[in-house]
Amino acid sequence: MPSNHNRATNDYPVENTSAAWENRSIDYGSTLRSVLFKGMPDSANEYFDSIHQNFIFECIEGNKDTIRILDIGCGYGRLSLPVIQKFPQAQITGIDISPNYVKLYRENTGGEAFVGSAEAIPPEAGTFDYIIVVTVLMYLPENKLKEVFSFLFAHLNTSGKIILIEPDKSGIIFQTCFGLARLFHNYSNMNTGGRCFSAAEIAAVVHQAGGAVIREKRIPATTFFFLWIYMAARFLPHNWARGFFHGLAVLDGLFKNRKLPTLWSFYLIEKNIMHN
Ligand SMILES: C[S@@+](CC[C@H](N)C(=O)[O-])C[C@H]1O[C@@H](n2cnc3c(N)ncnc32)[C@H](O)[C@@H]1O
Repeated sequence: MPSNHNRATNDYPVENTSAAWENRSIDYGSTLRSVLFKGMPDSANEYFDSIHQNFIFECIEGNKDTIRILDIGCGYGRLSLPVIQKFPQAQITGIDISPNYVKLYRENTGGEAFVGSAEAIPPEAGTFDYIIVVTVLMYLPENKLKEVFSFLFAHLNTSGKIILIEPDKSGIIFQTCFGLARLFHNYSNMNTGGRCFSAAEIAAVVHQAGGAVIREKRIPATTFFFLWIYMAARFLPHNWARGFFHGLAVLDGLFKNRKLPTLWSFYLIEKNIMHN
């Protein structure tokens, strides 16, 4: 939970600086509100967390003796920790621009992490089977995207993959409750700042950098019911809310490949072999 502090909630209008992230890591620590929606009840954030985790689990092929993974913009280790638990053979390294997140990551995962930026991964970091990038590119300047994908491809093994989750333009209208949320003073609690992408934009920049999107997934049911997720988490008994979330997850499974609005888009990306 956030510590008691006097800082106004809209102190982080666009969280694209290391200072803003350092502050957020200090205020919210190792909690889901630190890296997901600050204004969402915990059980709603737990649901969103499980959606992210499940996609990562679906993408990682666990039939290897060692799996080298880089978690870029790793935060406090929200996603690395369950990956380590599910794949004990994973050797996972975190990178984050915030020194405090790096400290928390080390404490939470017992793993390696260093302070660094997605735009400048040191060559000595080596190459990886998977690079996890979840809600990080949204904070980079637009003109850096292609460069960052080129860097990431340079740090992938021949058959390595990038697992990418970023906010999608098509879902923003649901997240802002058709723009009405902006009328409320605590909108910044729901808005994580940063920017959104379209699937076409991601596919184009990945292609220019020498790769291809090989799997894409969407969560339309969760998106359509974003406001109801908030209400359920806030007002329903825990078990009922969980039942509702489970129903949404089932619906999302049915519609995951349809080009319907989505809060986040989920991508599995590989580099073209000729770019090795
Ligand atoms: C929304 S949080 C997501 C954290 C983590 N990926 C997760 O999903 O739990 C964004 C994270 O990206 C980090 N970050 C922002 N810009 C970055 C950059 N240019 N390079 C590396 N990390 C960055 C922030 O410090 C923060 O930990």
